[in-house]
Amino acid sequence: MRKKFLLLVLIVFGALPVFADEGMWLPSLISQRIKDMQAKGFKLSAEDIYSINQSSLKDAIVHFGGGCTGELISDEGLLITNHHCGFGQIQSHSSVEHDYLKDGFWAMKRSEELPNPGLTVSFLEYMEDVTDRVLKGYRQEMTEQQRTELVRKNTEEIVNKATGGNENLRASVSPLYYGNQYYLFVYKVFRDVRLVGAPPSSIGKFGGDTDNWMWPRHTGDFSLFRVYADKNNEPAAYSEDNVPYKPKRFFNISAKGVKEGDFTMVYGFPGRTNEYIMSDAVEQIAKVSNPHKIKLRTLRLDVQRREMAKDQAVRIKYASKNASVSNSWKKWQGEMKGIIRLKAIENKKEFERNFSRWAEGKPEYEGLVEKMHDLYSSISELSLVSDYQGEALNAVELLRFAGTGQKNPEDFYKNYYMPIDKDIFIALFNEYDKSIPDKYKSPYFKKQMSEYGTAAVWADAVFDGPDMEKAAEIYRETNEYFSENIKPVLDSVNREINLLYRTYMRGQMEYDKAVGGTKVFYPDANSTLRVAYGNVKGYSPADAVYYLPGSTLEGIVQKDNPEIYDYDIPQKLRDLHAAGDYGTWETDGSVPVAFIATNHTSGGNSGSPVLDAEGNLIGVNFDRVWEGTMSDVVYDPQVCRNIALDIRYALFIIDKLAGAQHLLDEMNIIR
Ligand code: ARG
Ligand code: GLU
Repeated sequence: MRKKFLLLVLIVFGALPVFADEGMWLPSLISQRIKDMQAKGFKLSAEDIYSINQSSLKDAIVHFGGGCTGELISDEGLLITNHHCGFGQIQSHSSVEHDYLKDGFWAMKRSEELPNPGLTVSFLEYMEDVTDRVLKGYRQEMTEQQRTELVRKNTEEIVNKATGGNENLRASVSPLYYGNQYYLFVYKVFRDVRLVGAPPSSIGKFGGDTDNWMWPRHTGDFSLFRVYADKNNEPAAYSEDNVPYKPKRFFNISAKGVKEGDFTMVYGFPGRTNEYIMSDAVEQIAKVSNPHKIKLRTLRLDVQRREMAKDQAVRIKYASKNASVSNSWKKWQGEMKGIIRLKAIENKKEFERNFSRWAEGKPEYEGLVEKMHDLYSSISELSLVSDYQGEALNAVELLRFAGTGQKNPEDFYKNYYMPIDKDIFIALFNEYDKSIPDKYKSPYFKKQMSEYGTAAVWADAVFDGPDMEKAAEIYRETNEYFSENIKPVLDSVNREINLLYRTYMRGQMEYDKAVGGTKVFYPDANSTLRVAYGNVKGYSPADAVYYLPGSTLEGIVQKDNPEIYDYDIPQKLRDLHAAGDYGTWETDGSVPVAFIATNHTSGGNSGSPVLDAEGNLIGVNFDRVWEGTMSDVVYDPQVCRNIALDIRYALFIIDKLAGAQHLLDEMNIIR
């Protein structure tokens, strides 16, 4: 009787369409989602998305540099990604005479395209479930250490076999579902990638850190590169003889535009999510870690802002550092608020109570959450000490430079302003002293602090000169103490927790089935290629407020203010607007700039193609809305939105601002 009931529940719920757009799916398993995608408007097949037999959409996508995504938009290797993803390259070609960050850069012919040593793009050749091969030889009675060793050895063999000594291939095996599954990813890596175009920062970074993580948004966050290959169309180191790469696939661009409700899909490389963690971990994030890290970064940002406002040269030096400190600072605040608002901790606690009850009498799962809870409690304080090591002690630039020698002096001092760093030292060392219990501080720190009396006097002794030996000593002593006394305990408990997650992950799936749930468990993001899909949609960020899903050039002009750095647009853009000179990109009397949709994305999805129902490029992903930044931990269909550049704004800028018609000519634009 009960069985029949359960079956019924399964059938009924299984047949209902799932409305939430949560999930980052493995391309090779997308056939499991394709019905839902098609129900939401998608017109293509699973084979169109990912295929090992023929070219598919995946062949137009690259992992760009370390942590972004990019996509091919012509049969001559032309690639589009975000301005903030190409920022380092654009900056590296800039000087006082040629300030491409400020003025933008456009190669008017191929010979002007600029090489970028060290920059690579990787195309996924194929992916494959290798769980059996990774666990070959595993026996139940093995210790975890023996298992780890076995996995390491098998992985090495799999990777070597996959690359076969071909230096253009890179392979890696990634665990999914906390090591319940393993996947092999094989990439072809191109090393000659040249800068083709970038708008001025006043377009590409319009709104700066003020608008970052927020909607409505008006950032023209794109830059163009070109992939070069040798004469056989294979990867090669930079050479004048290289030719534009002929990709297996590139995206057609749709200039038809989007409207509310339209199907969209984001295909890229999200970095890291933690959707299946326990309430204890979520509580640590929202109530301990984020608040403390935010407080420490506020101290840093206050000092930076004060000094940057006083002096233009200092502002330029600290532009990039300030942006990166500010980026996570702002995200953590949204994430924390979102977690609290959604009652994610309470909900997870309730789930854990039910799970516990269900687990009774099941040897594999009984007592599991209690054990994990105890482990989490045992390291709550140490985790905070670790946060302070990174965000306070190691956030002082001079100490890190003197202690690690990671940078050469010229690079370090080019963007260094000592009064900022010294004041940050004082603020952060005082805060560390106040917030961290004495038992976790190194004897060295305590001795110095008591001898100098205050962090300010200590700072005088380090920065006046500066005394590089003393700076190096502080870095060395505090980090040695941390690595010898704090980190080993933290690491070993975390290893234990992670191991239990392997069981807990399985348990969550089994439990869901047992209670007739219909949850579909997608693997957490881990910088591997994923598909997210949803539709263009506005949202309500607060009572009585509703945000439309699209922004236009009108919003840029409304925000335009020559007095405010983040909102000071190029005169040429003002002129184009005043004259209504929008060319063929005009839509309803303006030019569309950005739009939001319900795709589940994360850091690393920057630069990802946003595709329409036919697989045409309609946008380039670059951010999430602030109210939805907790989606790395818990997704809320009401407010989680990705932010995409509307491709028509990029085309308008290339056409009307840059006058780079030759680039438009090599694209395939559908109107
Ligand atoms: N928030 C986006 C991301 O996480 C953009 C960051 C770059 N822009 C900035 N203003 N800091 O990467
Ligand atoms: N800006 C982020 C990136 O660089 C994407 C935004 C997000 O975290 O969703 O990857």
